[in-house]
Amino acid sequence: MLKKSIDEFNSVFLDIKDKCPIIVAGNKDNYNAMMVNWGGFGHLWNKKVCFIFVRKNRYTYEFMESFNTFTINFLDLTPQIIDYFGTKSGRDFDKFKETNLHASIDIDRNLRSIAEANQVLKCNKLCAIDLSKASFMLPEIVEKFYKNDDMHVLYIAEIKEYLIKE
Ligand SMILES: Cc1cc2nc3c(=O)[nH]c(=O)nc-3n(C[C@H](O)[C@H](O)[C@H](O)COP(=O)(O)O)c2cc1C
Repeated sequence: MLKKSIDEFNSVFLDIKDKCPIIVAGNKDNYNAMMVNWGGFGHLWNKKVCFIFVRKNRYTYEFMESFNTFTINFLDLTPQIIDYFGTKSGRDFDKFKETNLHASIDIDRNLRSIAEANQVLKCNKLCAIDLSKASFMLPEIVEKFYKNDDMHVLYIAEIKEYLIKE
């Protein structure tokens, strides 16, 4: 992997929706990964940040709460990768083993990323916001997305490092 300036990270700002990255949350010893496509990138508190939304019933949520770093990994998706990382839980499967992906270790930052990724963002959590039903202006959003009370937590994190495949 080649280390790049975060300023060179442009193209994916708008396409988290289409590229469906995989986040790896945790540390080098304990981690879990899942697909996300709700979120975005921006400028906040004079930092380059990302926003991701993780429902509390995800196994990944436990790692997001317990650790302060995570990575966002953009990779070429196959139906098998989408199936494991987008529908199956790390409580039941070793997703990396099942898909033959590998979790690289960053000793200094004490985190993991996906070795096969084309682009990796290493992020430090800045803030976690519990979304509540009362905070929504539109009842139809609550009705459509939260009728089972499986609320999202919004994580805002600083992008500390950007890597692309050489
Ligand atoms: C295309 C796609 C996008 C997804 N985006 C999100 C998301 O932004 N937030 C979220 O909480 N779950 C999202 N999911 C669902 C999780 O990836 C899925 O429930 C996963 O199996 C959770 O794994 P875990 O229990 O190991 O954490 C998405 C799933 C797919 C297929």
